Amino acid sequence: MCGIVGYVGGKAAAPVLLKGLATLEYRGYDSAGIAVWHNNKIEMVKAAGKLQVLRQLTDEGQSVPGFMGIGHTRWATHGEPSDVNAHPHLSSSGRFAVVHNGIIENYQQLKNRLQRRGYEFVSQTDTEVIAQLVEYYYNGDMLDTMIKLLNALEGAYSLGIICLDDPEHFYAVRQDAPLVVGLGQGENLIASDVAALLAYTQEVYYLDDREIVVLAADKVEIYDTNRDAVEKQAQHIDWDVSAAEKGGYEHFMFKEIMEQPDSVRKTLSPRLQDGQIKLDDFNIDVERLANFRKIYIVACGSSYHVAAVAKYILEEATRIPVEVDIASEFRYRGPIIGEDTLMIVISQSGETADTIAAMREGRAHGAHVLAIVNVLGSTIAREADDVLYTWAGPEIAVATTKAYSTQLAVIYLLALKFAGLLGRLTEQEQAECYQALVNLPEQLERTLQDKEKIQFLASQLYNKHSIFFIGRNLDYAVAMEGSLKLKEISYIHSEAYAGGELKHGTISLIEPGTLVCTLATCDRLIEKIKSNAEEVKARGAYLLAVAVEGDERLAGIADAIFYVPKTLPWLQPSLTVIPLQLFAYYVASQKGCSIDQPKNLAKSVTVE
Ligand code: AGP
Repeated sequence: MCGIVGYVGGKAAAPVLLKGLATLEYRGYDSAGIAVWHNNKIEMVKAAGKLQVLRQLTDEGQSVPGFMGIGHTRWATHGEPSDVNAHPHLSSSGRFAVVHNGIIENYQQLKNRLQRRGYEFVSQTDTEVIAQLVEYYYNGDMLDTMIKLLNALEGAYSLGIICLDDPEHFYAVRQDAPLVVGLGQGENLIASDVAALLAYTQEVYYLDDREIVVLAADKVEIYDTNRDAVEKQAQHIDWDVSAAEKGGYEHFMFKEIMEQPDSVRKTLSPRLQDGQIKLDDFNIDVERLANFRKIYIVACGSSYHVAAVAKYILEEATRIPVEVDIASEFRYRGPIIGEDTLMIVISQSGETADTIAAMREGRAHGAHVLAIVNVLGSTIAREADDVLYTWAGPEIAVATTKAYSTQLAVIYLLALKFAGLLGRLTEQEQAECYQALVNLPEQLERTLQDKEKIQFLASQLYNKHSIFFIGRNLDYAVAMEGSLKLKEISYIHSEAYAGGELKHGTISLIEPGTLVCTLATCDRLIEKIKSNAEEVKARGAYLLAVAVEGDERLAGIADAIFYVPKTLPWLQPSLTVIPLQLFAYYVASQKGCSIDQPKNLAKSVTVE
C-alpha cells in the first residue's frame, strides 16, 4: 500500500521525508517522490523505482531545500508505475502538491468535469484529479477548500497537501485510510503509520474520518467540516525507534520470527493473573455470551488462517456454532446476522479494507463486534465494540509471523475466558490450560533453537516448483498458513489440503519428488494423517513431516521430520507453525527473494 509522510519544522524537510518513506517501504511500492516548499516555489522530485533512485536524484535530500514538505511511496492502482504517475502530483499552476493513499472512486466524473473546464492532465492517476480539484475550489481559504474537496471525493483516501500561498502550514485529511499526526517539539508530522514518526516523537493523534488537520511547526489544529475546532487527546506510543528497525538481523521477517516468544509473552502475561484470565475493557459477560447463537470470525490472509484455528478452539470452548469467513466474501453472501451474533474480526494492521467493510456490515445488522488487532488506534480498533490488542510491537515484514502468533495467543485467552464464563472447565482443567499458556513462550524459544535443521532442509528443497502442505483438524488450519508463507516470499506455488481430502482429486498431482509437508501433531488423528502420508509416499512424494517430540509414528515413512514440543492440543498450532515460517524464510533466502518486500504485495491492503 502507498505510504505518506509530511513534515514542517526546523529541520531540512527533504531528508526527514526520505527517512520517513524508508520506514514505510515495507508497505510495498513501485515509485516515490517528495515536494518541498522553498522560496515561494514547490520543489518536486519523483521517480519510478525504489527510494534509492530518489536519494540519488536529491543527493540524499540535500539538493531540495526547505522546511515543509510531503512525501509518498506509491503502490500503483490507477496507471502503471512511472515517473509521471508517481506522487506528489501538482495542480496545473504548480500552486498545490498532493500525496494520496487510497482510491477515489468517482475520479473519472470529477476528471471529466474538470476537463470540460479546461483542465489538462498529464498522468493516469486519480490523485492528479485531487490536485486539480483543489486548484478549482481554491478561493484563498485552504480550510474552505479542504471542506469542498471532502464533499466532492468518494472513496477511501488519506491526503497530504501543500499550498504555494501558505509557507507556514500543510494540510491533511483521512477517509477510510490510515493517517497519524506526530506531535514534535517545534516540528509536526503526518504519516501513514506510526513507524515513520518514532524518530521524532512518541506522541500522536489518531485521526477520525473527515477531520481536517492544519499543521504548522509550532502547532497542530484540527477542524471538522463545519469549521469547528476538534479537540484530540494525544496518545503515547510505547514502541521506540529500534522496534521498527532491523536490529542487526538481515531481514525484518527473521527478526520478527525470532521475536515471537517475547511477543507472545507480552501478549499473554498481563492477562494471566493468579490463575485467572484478565481481559481489560471487555464487555462480554456471561449473560451476553449466553445469548450469542452464532459466532462469525472474519479476516483476510494469515489473519484468516488464525480464524481457521479459532473455529475449532472456540466451538470446543463454547459449543456455540462458529463460522469462519474470508472478509471479501462475507459481506456479499448475505450473512445471517442479528443481535444474537458475535462477530470477531482479526487484523494485524486494523486497516484492511475488506475486513473493515465486513465489520461494518456486521455492525449494521446488530452484531457485537470484537476486534483482535495489533495497531493502536487503527480503524478496526476504533470502530469495534470490544478490542483485544496483540502486543506484538510494530510488524514490518509484509509476511506476518509474530502478529499471527500473538493473534493465536489472544484466541487462546478468549477461549479460556469464554469457557470459564460458561462453566465448561473444571478447576483442574482451568489450571492445566493456564499453566500451558505460561509455558508457551519458553516452548517457542526451544522450537526456534532448532532453526538450523530447517535451514538445512531448505537448502536441499528450495528448488521445488510446487509444494503441498497437508494436515487434519488444527493441523489443516496451520497448513494453510505454512503454504501462504511459502508462496508470499519464495514465489513457489503451494497448496494446503485437508489430509483426508487429497484423495478426492488433488493427489493426481503427486509425482515422484513432489514435496509434501505433512503436519502430524494431532494425536487422536495420527493414524489417519499417517495413512494420507503413506498415500503420497506411495506415489513418490518427498515427505517432510512435523510431529511432536517423542512421537515416532511417522519416522518410518518420512524422509525428514521436524519435532516440536508437545503442549495441549489447542495450543499446538503456535508451535507447529514455527518450522513452517522458518522453512519459507530459508527457502526464499536461498532463492535470493526480496523477503521483507515481496513483489506485488503490501503490508496493509487498504483497498478492496
Ligand atoms: C500475511 O503474511 C500477509 N501479509 C497477508 O495475508 C495479511 O495477513 C492480510 O493482508 C491481512 O492483513 P491484516 O492482518 O493486517 O488485516
